[in-house]
Amino acid sequence: MSAGFNQNEIVPDNYKLLISEDQIQKRLKELGKQIANDFKGQKPILIGVLNGGFIVLADLIRYISIDLEIDFIRISSYGDKRESSGHIKILKPLSADIKERSVIVVEDIVDTGLSVKFLQNMFSAFDPKVLRFATLLNKPARNKIDADIHYIGFDIEDKYVVGYGLDDQQLKRNLRSIYFIE
Ligand code: IMP
Repeated sequence: MSAGFNQNEIVPDNYKLLISEDQIQKRLKELGKQIANDFKGQKPILIGVLNGGFIVLADLIRYISIDLEIDFIRISSYGDKRESSGHIKILKPLSADIKERSVIVVEDIVDTGLSVKFLQNMFSAFDPKVLRFATLLNKPARNKIDADIHYIGFDIEDKYVVGYGLDDQQLKRNLRSIYFIE
């Protein structure tokens, strides 16, 4: 796949490759197939969690071979810090009505699990028919909350990762692979 530009131009020396572009796409294809099978005959709505989840959602939906809708929600995460404050605010609410709908919330990464728990509580109150969570990355060692996540791309170690929508102080979201910072 063509990267469009030489990614090394914006990869600092202390970034180490963790998951390549090809590995990400291969895994999203598998998850897309699984979702299409699980929701056959329904028109699920996939909700991307901004900012990080926008690239995952964009690529994932193109591997799902059934009709679907999308929406986005934006919640505050870490600001420019690398630790969760635990206080979550809604910065952009949902536009769609999810009552009696099949809903799949798409996250970039589950770290402490606090964001997923917050969204689980909030979306459940709208009475969806089905509510599932998907995440490209999960850090089991960091999970504080036993959040129920149905679709997981990769379990990774407790390292801060960047690229593919994930930021390093708001930068590097445009990298096609995922790196950890050494
Ligand atoms: P949680 O609420 O602690 O699970 O955090 C989830 C959010 O924190 C994610 O949606 C990301 O925005 C951010 N986050 C957590 N870990 C990382 C990381 O390693 N790199 C970049 N962002 C991260």
